[in-house]
Amino acid sequence: MTGNENMPHLPDIEAVRAHFPSLARETVLLENAGGSQVPLCVADAIRDHLLNDYVQLGAGYPASDRATATVERAHRFMDRFVNGEGIGRVILGSSCTSLMHVLAHSIARTIRPGDEIVVCQQGHEANIGCWLELERHGAVIRWWRVNPESGSLALEDLESVLSERTRIVAFPHVSNLLGEIVDVQTVTAMVHAAGGQVVVDGVAYAPHRAIDVRAWNVDFYAWSTYKVYGPHMGALFARHDAIGALEGPNHFFIPEDEIPYKFELGGVSHEGCAGLCALPRLLAFLAGDESSAAADAETCDFKVVQRAFDAMTSLEAPVQERLLERLGAHQSVRIIGPLSGDTAVRVSTVSMVHATLDPRRIVEIACSAGFGIRHGHMYAYRLCEQMQIAPVPGVVRISAVHYNTVSEVDGLCDVLEESLAL
Ligand SMILES: Cc1ncc(COP(=O)(O)O)c(C=O)c1O
Repeated sequence: MTGNENMPHLPDIEAVRAHFPSLARETVLLENAGGSQVPLCVADAIRDHLLNDYVQLGAGYPASDRATATVERAHRFMDRFVNGEGIGRVILGSSCTSLMHVLAHSIARTIRPGDEIVVCQQGHEANIGCWLELERHGAVIRWWRVNPESGSLALEDLESVLSERTRIVAFPHVSNLLGEIVDVQTVTAMVHAAGGQVVVDGVAYAPHRAIDVRAWNVDFYAWSTYKVYGPHMGALFARHDAIGALEGPNHFFIPEDEIPYKFELGGVSHEGCAGLCALPRLLAFLAGDESSAAADAETCDFKVVQRAFDAMTSLEAPVQERLLERLGAHQSVRIIGPLSGDTAVRVSTVSMVHATLDPRRIVEIACSAGFGIRHGHMYAYRLCEQMQIAPVPGVVRISAVHYNTVSEVDGLCDVLEESLAL
């Protein structure tokens, strides 16, 4: 360990970027809420797995034993990654969306007529549509509504839709459009007090801050590993008591208590697991602790994860400040989400609309100057509707993570300056 334990380690940004060879390409990537880049260690591990151990699990020959160990190690590391070791398991799958469907399908079997499911207008459709399906099983759907001006959520509005029939409250930790952080711990306590369970979509939070399922006491928490510097997979933490009450959808002869496998239809990506096992090398570097224990998936503990994400937050803070300051300087620009750059309030995912300029045109100007950003509803279709934003063309979204720089933001804002000033 280097430096003061209580101070976030602030790694040199050029050293950080050197871990991500793809950042040297022609386009400045400010579209990270769609997906992040992977460090070389993750890419190398996937390649090594494909070239050496790409065989089926559990057969008993050396490559098969190694592949089995890799898949198991990835699961154990993911448990520790979210501080969930001993209190639950992480289920892996092809995406957050598919895992939400698996979960909703399993919960559907336990629904009694009149059970209430609370869904949230702020959510990505991945954590809405699958829950609306439960109406067919007799569930009553209640909506946690947003403020139509700000898109924000209020705890009083949640309170008003909770009842003794509440079974599930499905909501986002961060909206992938607004970038605003929801107080998961407080929401979870309120839902538990009503006798329900929470299903948190942490996809837009996970690239920026450490997930702490133990502190927040959540029942289910999902994220996408491909947005957190890893391979294209999804992950769902499930607390033992919450998942233990459900029947998993995998084949009948797989025992109910074989969790997570009972919920991993057809198994998981083995090479993806190899990539996940390499992630601690990046985290250890960011945490300023490159000891072999910190960099190894078997021993990398939650403290290293926390320190790595603290470092990411410190790197992101000036980037989001600058982005908000430069965009906010234009009278015709409306930021969709908090204006504050405070890292306790928001992450570095910033959306906007312009009074007269079409989002498609703004993105076109940026892209032709070598800046990768996007426009659209970002699958937060219902949020756009509530905020009176036409889902097509939607908003312009600029999304940075720790490896982006203030000068990249300045470059983009310089390119857009004249157009946004109109
Ligand atoms: C907030 C949020 N939730 C859920 C999803 C869906 O994740 P996946 O692509 O892993 O299904 C996304 C994807 O962009 C997202 O941004």
